[in-house]
Amino acid sequence: MAGPYTVAAICGSLRRDSWNRKLMNAAIARAPAALAIAEVPIGDLPLFNEDLERDPWPDAVLAAGAALRAADAVLVVTPEYNASVPGPLKNALDWLSRKTSAGPAPMNGKPVALIGATPGLMGTARAQAQVRQALQNLSLPVLPGPNVFVTQAATRFDDSGALTDEMTLKMLDTLLERFVNWIERNRVGG
Ligand SMILES: Cc1cc2nc3c(=O)[nH]c(=O)nc-3n(C[C@H](O)[C@H](O)[C@H](O)COP(=O)(O)O)c2cc1C
Repeated sequence: MAGPYTVAAICGSLRRDSWNRKLMNAAIARAPAALAIAEVPIGDLPLFNEDLERDPWPDAVLAAGAALRAADAVLVVTPEYNASVPGPLKNALDWLSRKTSAGPAPMNGKPVALIGATPGLMGTARAQAQVRQALQNLSLPVLPGPNVFVTQAATRFDDSGALTDEMTLKMLDTLLERFVNWIERNRVGG
């Protein structure tokens, strides 16, 4: 059997009642036995500034980097702002694409999967396309599909925040199953 693999989940929304955090929590709850998914928080990362890339490195940068390096793979959960990637997520990906005093770029070589949710009708397709482009530019293997573009988010979750929409659950389960094989094929040292 493949795995178990540890997966660092990055949620691009800092909002308390975020749909994307609810979607991430659904992925954590429904992960197959071969995946252990845990969030790596990004809210304390400073705005990226090359002047900060020296001792003493920001604690939040070192902490997020260590968590990423320890993971086998990364799950990026992206909202969409203005048909694009929200600033906090782009900021995190920029930090995590850089080496630190503690070692090489934390994203280096990590297989990645993308998901996202919006109250709108486009399902974060545009934001996901841009995240995919940025990660492929880092030569990272990004899971080709299925697309988990969660539209009209308010209709997909119950009052407790649990994902209940059958079609979305099926797509999420399929993505998680394919991610296991994707990690197996693409992980560093695999
Ligand atoms: C500045 C801004 C721009 C937005 N632009 C888009 C957009 O282009 N496409 C979209 O689907 N939703 C857009 N939205 C709505 C977000 O999808 C919505 O706020 C969503 O709840 C954010 O994700 P979250 O619930 O995980 O925080 C925008 C929201 C903000 C604040």
